[in-house]
Parts: sequence; structure tokens; C-alpha cells
Amino acid sequence: MASTTSLARVTLTVLLVVITPSAVLQPLYHHRHHHDGAPVGVVEAQPLPVSYYSNGKGEPNYTSSPLPEALKAMPYACDDDCVSKLRFKAWEMQGNCTTCAFAWPATTVMANTTTSDIMGIVLYNGAFVDPRSYSVLASKLASRGVNVIVPVFPNDLATDCNGMTLEAVTNAFFPNVTAWMVAGHSYGGVGAGYAAAATLLCGGTSPRVVALGVIGSYIKDLLQCPETIPVPNFEGDDHLHAAVITGNRDLSMNLTNFVDNLNRLPVHTTFTSIIGGNHQQFGSYDPSGRSRDIDGNATISRDAQLNVTADALVRTLLHATKNNDISPRSLVDC
Ligand SMILES: *[C@@H]1O[C@H](CO)[C@@H](O)[C@H](O)[C@H]1NC(C)=O
Ligand SMILES: *[C@@H]1O[C@H](CO)[C@@H](O)[C@H](O)[C@H]1NC(C)=O
Ligand SMILES: *[C@@H]1O[C@H](CO)[C@@H](O)[C@H](O)[C@H]1NC(C)=O
Ligand SMILES: *[C@@H]1O[C@H](CO)[C@@H](O)[C@H](O)[C@H]1NC(C)=O
Ligand SMILES: *[C@@H]1O[C@H](CO)[C@@H](O)[C@H](O)[C@H]1NC(C)=O
Ligand SMILES: *[C@@H]1O[C@H](CO)[C@@H](O)[C@H](O)[C@H]1NC(C)=O
Ligand SMILES: *[C@@H]1O[C@H](CO)[C@@H](O)[C@H](O)[C@H]1NC(C)=O
Repeated sequence: MASTTSLARVTLTVLLVVITPSAVLQPLYHHRHHHDGAPVGVVEAQPLPVSYYSNGKGEPNYTSSPLPEALKAMPYACDDDCVSKLRFKAWEMQGNCTTCAFAWPATTVMANTTTSDIMGIVLYNGAFVDPRSYSVLASKLASRGVNVIVPVFPNDLATDCNGMTLEAVTNAFFPNVTAWMVAGHSYGGVGAGYAAAATLLCGGTSPRVVALGVIGSYIKDLLQCPETIPVPNFEGDDHLHAAVITGNRDLSMNLTNFVDNLNRLPVHTTFTSIIGGNHQQFGSYDPSGRSRDIDGNATISRDAQLNVTADALVRTLLHATKNNDISPRSLVDC
């Protein structure tokens, strides 16, 4: 079902990502027609003012709701009102919120690890996708021996330009973790790229990020980050490991941007293409409120797609943990 290739230098053609559109952001999307006539939507890089899609205090006008199985996989019951309060707090505290996240402690000890290998994954949500929608994937990761955090971002946009959210939630929830992966789906993949860059490229050591997980996405796009923020570029970096996971039925991801981003990935990058997987099955949300059917139809189940995704992320994190020289390096001017 999945084919995996390890490429040191990247030359690849794959079908790929973009940020999934919503009804309220319709003007953000360009349209073009896929060869089979299916409309393909692409999020424009430069978003509209926050006032257009939000109440201005962290609450988006539209977001995709979690499926019932996602609510069941939560670490505690958190209803819509509870999530709204967390979005507001995250907005108010501008990246400093240590409680604006959900956490899943590892439920097993991973084979072939020592007690000093304590692994964690921070998982960033797709644009305008309720963060609870990632609970099913989070639980699968926890059952593989990894501690997991899903942060709650203002407006459900995982914009963590300076890595402050990453630092706040990792220290607060799992201070003992010795090897972190920062991962994200769709828009969250770009958010993860920026957070990793902010943490690693300027000689930072907290948290100890050893791996990057890029799910139905790529690591650089315009997130309206200030120009002083390092742009994700890990070309030639042989410390960081990356897992890039795509579905070959994903019609949402912008292929041009995906290909343009390949040379920014670190030397140790593993590509996993999930045959029959699409864009929305990386999460567990109801996409029906989205303006157009821009995703492909999956030919495998969500559960199968998430199992492969969890396996691929954990495999990369384990490799990175075994080879975790994270000597500070500066590949850009900070
Ligand atoms: C992909 O994004 C680029 C901007 O980087 C844009 O010019 C292009 O139209 C997009 N492709 C599709 C298929 O929408
Ligand atoms: C989103 O909500 C804000 C505040 O309630 C409102 O001003 C704005 O017009 C809404 N945007 C859309 C596209 O409905
Ligand atoms: C967030 O933390 C930084 C660094 O400690 C501080 O300068 C800033 O004022 C804080 N912002 C808020 C909104 O708490
Ligand atoms: C884990 O350890 C077992 C037994 O020590 C070994 O057979 C297996 O190959 C190891 N697996 C990995 C992924 O290192
Ligand atoms: C962190 O490690 C210390 C020492 O091993 C242990 O006492 C503590 O319970 C651990 N904390 C967590 C949150 O796992
Ligand atoms: C997905 O399936 C639906 C229902 O059969 C169909 O209308 C739609 O065109 C399909 N989408 C694609 C991209 O093939
Ligand atoms: C996914 O993994 C779980 C746990 O190992 C297993 O029970 C389930 O059957 C798997 N799902 C599929 C579709 O393979």
C-alpha cells in the first residue's frame, strides 16, 4: 500500500499539496481544471486580512469539525466551547500559551529504545481544521510509544513563525522528551517547517528537534511571517531527518510548490507515497462545509491511511533519535 524511498538528493515527481480552502476564503483560491475536469483549488499565498475570516480574537468564521471518532480519541472531553476558549487564549497570549494544546502520553515503550530515548511529536493542524481532528492520528502515534502534542492555534491556522508555540507546549507538557519531531498536515506542514527553522537554524537547542514530518504538504510558503524570520531551508543539513508523506489521490496539494520545495529538505529525507490516500484522510474531519470538492477520492480507508502515516513518522523519528547529533548550526543569517 505504501512505497517508501530514501533519497539523499532530491529529484522527484509526485502529486502534491496545498492548503484546503473553505467557503469563507473562496476569493483566496484560484481555479484551474485538472486533466479530468475536476476543479483544483489552491490557496493564494497572501491571505486576506484576519478580519475577513475571523472575529479578530482567534475564532475563525469557518472550520472543519472533528468526526465522532476524533472526539472519542481525545484525551479528555473538550466540546466546541472548550476549543473556542483555547483559541481565544492562544490568540491572547501570542504564542506563549502553555495550556493551549492537547496531549497524549505514550501508551507503550517502543522496542529498541533505551530509557534515555524519550520521543515526542508535535502535530500542527491543517488550515481551518479543528485541531481535535488530529486526535486519531495522535492516539495511533501514542500507541507506538511516542508522546504527542496537538497545539490549538488562533483561527485554526498553525502559524508559528518564531517557534514560540513549539517551545511553550513542549516544555509544558513533556519536559522529559529528548527527541522531538515537529510535524504538520497541509498548512500545518508549512507551519512545522517555520517552527523547525526558527528552532534549529539560529543555533537554538530548545526543544531538541531532531525530525520534521511533512504530511500532504511542503515546508515553505508565505504564512505572513515577518521578514526577519528564517525561511525554512535545510538543504545540505545532515543532522535533521524528515518524513514526507503524500497520498497519490491528493488533489489539494499544489504540485508546483511541492516540487519547488524539494531542495529545501534535509539530506536524510524519506518519502512515503500512500497509494489510494487523499488529502483529508490525513485528518479526521468533516470536509463537507468546504466550498468545493477539491480533494481526490481515496481508495483506501482513513484507518489504513493513518496507520501508514503513523508508521512512517515514527520510523523517521526513531532513526533521527539514533543519530541525534543536533549540534547547533547556522545555515542562514539570524
Ligand atoms: C501553485 O502555487 C503557485 C504559487 O506558488 C501558483 O502560481 C500556481 O497557480 C499554483 N498551482 C495550482 C495548480 O493552482
Ligand atoms: C467573519 O466574521 C467577522 C466578525 O464576526 C465578520 O466581520 C466578517 O465579515 C466575517 N467574514 C465572512 C467572510 O463572513
Ligand atoms: C510572550 O513571551 C515573551 C518572551 O517571554 C514576552 O516578551 C511577551 O511579552 C509575551 N507575550 C505575551 C502576550 O504574553
Ligand atoms: C530491535 O531489536 C531486535 C532484537 O534485539 C532486533 O531483532 C530488531 O532488528 C531491532 N529492530 C530495529 C528496527 O532496530
Ligand atoms: C521526568 O523524568 C524524571 C526523572 O526520570 C521523572 O521523575 C519524572 O516523572 C518524569 N516526568 C515526566 C512528565 O515524565
Ligand atoms: C469523487 O467521487 C464523486 C462521487 O462519485 C464524484 O462525483 C467526483 O467527481 C469524484 N472526484 C474525483 C476527483 O474523481
Ligand atoms: C490499523 O492499525 C490498528 C492497530 O494496529 C489495527 O487494529 C487496524 O486493523 C489497522 N487498520 C487497517 C485498515 O489496517
